[in-house]
Amino acid sequence: MKIVLVGYMGSGKSSVGKKLAEKLKIPFMDMDTEIEKQQGISVSEVFRTKGEIYFRTIENKILKELISQLEKFVLAIGGGTPCYADSMAYMASKEDVKTIYLKTSLSTLTSRLLNEKDKRPLLAHLKTEEDLNDFIRKHLFERAYYYNQSKIVIENNSEALDDTVERIVSKLF
Ligand code: S3P
Repeated sequence: MKIVLVGYMGSGKSSVGKKLAEKLKIPFMDMDTEIEKQQGISVSEVFRTKGEIYFRTIENKILKELISQLEKFVLAIGGGTPCYADSMAYMASKEDVKTIYLKTSLSTLTSRLLNEKDKRPLLAHLKTEEDLNDFIRKHLFERAYYYNQSKIVIENNSEALDDTVERIVSKLF
């Protein structure tokens, strides 16, 4: 089983993904970590020194490598991964890939990302909570088109981690 968690930054892909992989007893992988391993620098450094287009090309390439080379995993991809090149169409075309959209409200994303935005190159420049909220609202509107092409949609706001994982498992089998 190849499970790919899709969703905006701060939607809980990594924490839900780790717990889900533990429960299913299959490996967990994180796209940003894979990129950092291959590039030898942080995601922020890749954006700063090589630019966003380079980053988007690399994430599309790594996504395809992981999906075609590995048998079973839970993979948390970046918030932008499904929205560039043919990433979403590629995943949709693979029968053994289950894409799961972790759908999170604007207010939850804003409060989660407020303390973490400095780690995210696309958000680091936003000064106030209002700026952040406004940015996410517009960005999410554009990206929802891709996220909603996922095979399964799961709400992930204030639910306990175990509950979210249980709801995913019940839709998988
Ligand atoms: C991005 C999301 C980040 C990371 C990069 C760009 C995006 O991953 O890939 O900062 O475009 O939404 P997370 O969704 O894991 O934060």
